[in-house]
Amino acid sequence: MRLGFIGLGTMGRPMAMNLLRAGFPLTVYNRTASKAQPLLEMGAAWAPSPADLAEASEVVLTMLSDTPDVEAVLFGPGGVWEGIRPGSIVIEMSTIAPEAAAAFARRLAERGCEMLDAPVSGGERGAIEGTLAIMVGGREDTFQRCLPILRALGKTIIYTGPSGNGQKTKLVNQLICALTIIAVIEGVHLAESLGLNLETTFRVVSGGAAASWMLSTLAPKIIQNDFAPGFKIALQQKDLRLVREAIQQISGRALENEPELFPGAALAFRLFHEAVAEGLGEQGTQGLIALYRRRARL
Ligand SMILES: NC(=O)c1ccc[n+]([C@@H]2O[C@H](COP(=O)([O-])OP(=O)(O)OC[C@H]3O[C@@H](n4cnc5c(N)ncnc54)[C@H](OP(=O)(O)O)[C@@H]3O)[C@@H](O)[C@H]2O)c1
Repeated sequence: MRLGFIGLGTMGRPMAMNLLRAGFPLTVYNRTASKAQPLLEMGAAWAPSPADLAEASEVVLTMLSDTPDVEAVLFGPGGVWEGIRPGSIVIEMSTIAPEAAAAFARRLAERGCEMLDAPVSGGERGAIEGTLAIMVGGREDTFQRCLPILRALGKTIIYTGPSGNGQKTKLVNQLICALTIIAVIEGVHLAESLGLNLETTFRVVSGGAAASWMLSTLAPKIIQNDFAPGFKIALQQKDLRLVREAIQQISGRALENEPELFPGAALAFRLFHEAVAEGLGEQGTQGLIALYRRRARL
């Protein structure tokens, strides 16, 4: 199967590399062309636009930032829509609004094309190691056809139901992630406020009931003063915005006005919103510690 990959950022670049390593013929496109260089050196072909990429590919994978970015790349000028052939498949792997994913799938169906929403979890490390969790919405027969591709990217690959269900599942994942990030950051902040040695504290805590992926990934980065993303605070805030919108759709009520509906989501939305407002958006999520440190100094 000839594949095309659009969006060679933190996640997309290592994912595209894994597709090449698995032996798929691959065409790539990225808005900032220079980021494609390592892929071209590994044997990928370059397409000058998403439309050209779609014309050259039977399956188009996208890994972009937010809902409007996916819409622009699929349906904007020079977008996938202008080049895609009937029978082709789009595997949309960014984290975007579930109802938008379902609407994009319906639009592509008008052209005789299928779309899977297939967001991922597992971070940059999971993308590099090909161990992502992939939650897939869309037609089950299309999911089965795409499994060999998804197996090059992830280890836990689960069909979740019709279009949009992959993204709904991802919202659950992101709410749990955000609250776990807050738990880890607040634990680090308490440890440093108590004058504890962070390295010994988190070596022992990681061996007990508080162990988690988030703890073992973020605490060492804070200890090493490494605030590079991983997963940007701005993207986590975007995901919490999607969670907030979903809660509003379910309940008909605004989370800000009635935080008791989902108190954890309300807290997480507020903290990540403040972190972005304080200029921390481009840092990895471990950068949330700066919010606590600044307040402690006030
Ligand atoms: N990082 C993680 O740990 C992680 C984990 C799970 C899921 N995700 C999700 O995966 C997606 C990608 O995350 P990431 O961390 O890889 O983000 P990133 O490093 O910021 O990369 C975003 C990519 O999208 C492209 N892009 C953004 N807007 C565009 C537009 N309007 N037109 C064309 N290209 C556009 C960027 O192109 P340029 O290079 O030109 O900027 C870049 O290639 C997000 O939805 C995120 O929520 C991330």
